[in-house]
This record gives sequence, C-alpha cells and structure tokens, in this order.
Amino acid sequence: MNKLIILASGSGSNAAKIIEYFENQDDTIVSAVLTDNRHAGVLDKCKSLNIPTLYFSAALFRSSGFIDLLNSFGPDLIILAGFLKKIPSEVIAEYPDKIINIHPSLLPKYGGKGMYGAHVHHAVKENNEPESGISIHYVNEHYDQGQIIAQFKVALDSQDNAEQIAKKVQQLEHLHFAPTIATLLKNNE
Ligand code: GAR
Repeated sequence: MNKLIILASGSGSNAAKIIEYFENQDDTIVSAVLTDNRHAGVLDKCKSLNIPTLYFSAALFRSSGFIDLLNSFGPDLIILAGFLKKIPSEVIAEYPDKIINIHPSLLPKYGGKGMYGAHVHHAVKENNEPESGISIHYVNEHYDQGQIIAQFKVALDSQDNAEQIAKKVQQLEHLHFAPTIATLLKNNE
C-alpha cells in the first residue's frame, strides 16, 4: 500500500482532488493532510472527506520534530499542494526524490520566491504570454528548481485576464495532478 501525505496552506482544491482520486484506487491511501495555517480552507474540505488533518507551527516546521512528524506517517510520497514555505534541506535529505510540488506556471518561467498563486497569473498576463500551464516537480533546496516530472500547457487568449488564466491553469491542475502522482508511484514500484 502506497501512503501519501499532503502539505497544504490554502483552499485545498488540489488536495481534495487528490483525495477523491485515490479513494477509488485500492493500492494508495492519503494518510493525512498537514497544514501550517489553522484557518486553511483545506481543513474543512478534509473534514467532509474524512481525512485526518494536523496543524503544525512555524517553530515545529523549523525543528527536527517536523521530520519526526513526517516519519510517523511513513509516507512513500509527500505532496505539496499549495504549500508555500520552503522545505528545510534536512527534510529534503531525509526524503530524497519523495517530495513533489505543483506550480501554476511552465517552469522555469514564473518560478522562484514570491511567485505563487495569483502573482504568477498576473505576471503571465503582463507579459502577454500566448500559453501557460502547470509544472509538477521534485522539491529541492531552491524554490521551484527541482527536476520536472510533468508539465501540461493551455493556450491563452489575449482577452484572458489574470482570473481567467488562473481558472484555465486550475483546470489543468485538477485534471492532471493526481494521475501524475499515480504514474510516479507505479514507476517507483
Ligand atoms: C495552486 O494553484 C498551486 O499550483 C499553487 O497554489 C495553488 C493552491 O490552490 N502553488 C504555488 O503557487 C506554489 N508555488 P489550492 O489550495 O486550491 O490547491
């Protein structure tokens, strides 16, 4: 049985899609969703999906206790789904190639510190990009620079505003994130 844990700080729409996807697969379970935000929308979503959640403080995150917490779940993969803090290098060393992130742009474009959520889509709009998309990648010690696992593109219309771009990109996330995780787990078997 593959065990996943998800780290999320925000509304949790991607976390919910992943949970729903793996509910229908008998070889993988989402063990828990961990958050650094007591008010994150993901907490309510997990309640209705019957998935355990756990809040951790910024102090715990920076301590070795965070690795102990992760280890207590024995995860095969750690999924960042809208988790914005940089993962400490000790955690990356403990879980090499086992932490993956989703980013709402075609990396290496529009990545790095401060480039998250709506900031990305506004920058894409400002530069009149003809396309955008998503990147699913391994996490290393640099923001958005780990090896890319998969990317998916969507064409943009010059009329699209940042909100419309965000919607198009979110559709790609909801469609592709969970199946990409499933493929990764299969390839790691
Ligand atoms: C997603 O669009 C994800 O790509 C982005 O945060 C959003 C979370 O949405 N992540 C980043 O920007 C990471 N740099 P959700 O809470 O509804 O899943």
